[in-house]
Amino acid sequence: MADRRPILLDCDPGVDDALAILWLAAHPELFDLRAVTVAAGNVGLELTVANAQRVLDLAGLGDIPVHAGAFRPIGAPRGKISMVHGKDGLGDIGLPPATRPPAAGHGAQAIIDTAHSAGGRLHLVATGPLTNIALALLLDPELPSLIDGLTLMGGAAFVPGNTTPAAEFNFHVDPQAARIVFENGIDITMAGLDVTRQAVISPQVMAQLSGHDAPMRGLCGKLLKGYRDPCLHDSVVVAWLMAPQLFESVPAHVAITCVPGEIAGQSVAATTERHLAGRSPNATILTRLDQRKFEAMFLSSMQALERRL
Ligand code: RIB
Ligand code: CA
Repeated sequence: MADRRPILLDCDPGVDDALAILWLAAHPELFDLRAVTVAAGNVGLELTVANAQRVLDLAGLGDIPVHAGAFRPIGAPRGKISMVHGKDGLGDIGLPPATRPPAAGHGAQAIIDTAHSAGGRLHLVATGPLTNIALALLLDPELPSLIDGLTLMGGAAFVPGNTTPAAEFNFHVDPQAARIVFENGIDITMAGLDVTRQAVISPQVMAQLSGHDAPMRGLCGKLLKGYRDPCLHDSVVVAWLMAPQLFESVPAHVAITCVPGEIAGQSVAATTERHLAGRSPNATILTRLDQRKFEAMFLSSMQALERRL
C-alpha cells in the first residue's frame, strides 16, 4: 500500500471518540493505526479502556494493542463524570463486552515505544485529556523529535468553553497536561470548539442513520442516539487528516491557564503581533469547516468500513 501514515490514537471513549475510531478504521489505505492509548475522561479509566477495545473489535481492528494510561489527571483529581456519553460512556446501547485484556505497559510508555519504533514518522492523534501524552513527554525528552506532529481535539480559542464558560472539557480535566504538551515544541494542530461545533450531523442524516440496517451506519445511529451533544468533536481530527482543504486555520501561540477554578484549562490564543509579543506560534488552530462536506465524508467512510467488514 502507498505511504500509509503511522498513527497512535490517545482517547477517552466516549461516543465521539468511538466514531473517530470507526472513521480511522475505514481507511487502512491512509492510516496505519499502530496502537491506542486510553485516559480517564468522559468516564473512568476501566470503562474508557473497555470502550476502546469494544469499538476496535466492532471495526475489525481487534488486533490493535490498547494500553491503559493515566487513571487521573496530572493536576487535581477529576470531578464528577458527565452523563453526555451515557453511564457506560458509549451511549448505554449494550455493545458487546471487550474480548481481551488491555496490552501490557502503561499508555505513556506505549506512546514512547511506538514513537521510537516508527522511526520519527509517528503522528499522534489525541481526542481526550492530554495526560498520557504529557507523561510521555516528561519521561522521554527525545519524544518531540520522534513524532511528526500531534492533531488533537481540545480547547476553545475564540469561542466559549463547553465545561465552563472559559474551558473545553479535555483541557479543563487536565490543564497541567495541556500546558506541558503546548510548551514542548511539538507541531500541533488544534481542533477546538471553534471548529468542532460546526461538525454536526443534520437531522436528515440522523434520520437516515437511526434504524439503518447497514451495520456501521446503524451502529452510528444507535451511538448518536445515546450521545447528549450534537457535535462530532473527535471525528474532526480524522476529517482534518484526510481532507485539510475542507478547513480554514490560523497560526497562534496557545497558552493554557492552570489556575484552579472556572478558567482552569482555558486556551488563550495569541494571533496578532501585539498579542504574540515576540513569541512564535506553537499551534495551528482550525477555525472553519465545510459542514456539508464533513457530513458526506463521514457517511462515505462508514460505507467504506461496511465494505471492508
Ligand atoms: O469537549 C469535547 C471533548 O471532550 C471530546 O473529546 C469528548 O469526547 C470529550 O472527551
Ligand atoms: Ca474524547
